[in-house]
Amino acid sequence: MNLPKLHSITKKIMVALLGGFLLVFLLFHATANLFILRHDEGAWYSAFCHFMGTNWIVKVFEIALIGAIALHILLTLWLALTNRLARPVRYHQAQKSKTHSTSKLMVWTGILIFVCLIIHFCDFYFVKLGWVKGEYMVKVEKLQDPEMMGFVQMAQQWDMTPEQLVDELEQEASMFTAANDDSAGTAQYIAGLRDKLEVMNIVQRAQQEGNITQDMQWIRHLTYDERQTLRRAMPENDPEPDFYYMAREKFSHLHIVLGYLFFFFVIFMHLRHAFPSAFQTLGLNNYKYNNIIEVLGKIYTWLVVLMFAAVPILVFLGL
Ligand code: HEM
Repeated sequence: MNLPKLHSITKKIMVALLGGFLLVFLLFHATANLFILRHDEGAWYSAFCHFMGTNWIVKVFEIALIGAIALHILLTLWLALTNRLARPVRYHQAQKSKTHSTSKLMVWTGILIFVCLIIHFCDFYFVKLGWVKGEYMVKVEKLQDPEMMGFVQMAQQWDMTPEQLVDELEQEASMFTAANDDSAGTAQYIAGLRDKLEVMNIVQRAQQEGNITQDMQWIRHLTYDERQTLRRAMPENDPEPDFYYMAREKFSHLHIVLGYLFFFFVIFMHLRHAFPSAFQTLGLNNYKYNNIIEVLGKIYTWLVVLMFAAVPILVFLGL
């Protein structure tokens, strides 16, 4: 089998650099997740997610991140495969190397992380991409439409509900369009009115069900269908995923908490080796600094994993 030529040390250096980038991301991600622990109706975490979802520099970073994850996985698998092809006949006796046992598990823990990551993306990231249904939120002020306020007042003056007024308009329009041939335009106008009325109903329902934050800024717990209605009626005001409530809801179920703890354990196994290994590949280690790198690696790994684990555990315990 012929694989494209790339020197194995080049591949190792690329894996180490990409891994280093991912180490920085993980620390950042774990730190930001701690906002979920605040009992502030998600004010901080939602503001953070809003920034992440709207800032174009972050969007470029996100593409780079997904690319880095994909490349990191591909290169490691490629390295493992070329190493195997270089020695088609296995050693008669398994070597007892001093290599840390976790290093031998790197490929396997990597594959497990990949599987867990896809499940994690289905929980959150794919909701943002619109591939999976979730819960959404939108700023109240964005839903206030002066045209509709006028429409409701008009309905009140004529002693009708807004829905009755739309029905009335529709009937009149059908008679009018029978004489003039603009049925498509009129139907579109009426459909637009109905969507906007539905937006008003959504706001009313949110008020009745207490789904508006105390500062009256956000409507939360919008369903996928409600989000679709809002997007249709006001395309410029696309509701955002409500990651704060989604995370809190998910981590109220024991099986999801346990699943995530397993995910963090596998990350722990992977990182234990990844940190010193990246330094070694990049030639940044020597006898003088080896111990420091080892200690730093341990501190980093425990810190990141404990920060990640704190969120599901504390949310589950209601703290
Ligand atoms: C308590 C644990 C975790 C929670 C609550 C959490 C939450 C989230 C949320 C809400 C998003 C979407 C954010 C957005 O796109 O604006 C996200 C994305 C992401 N998560 Fe996590 N996450 C956790 C653990 C992890 C772990 C352990 C990893 C890596 C191994 C990870 C990797 C990612 C990646 C790569 C993305 C997509 C990039 C991004 O949007 O920033 N997450 N996570």
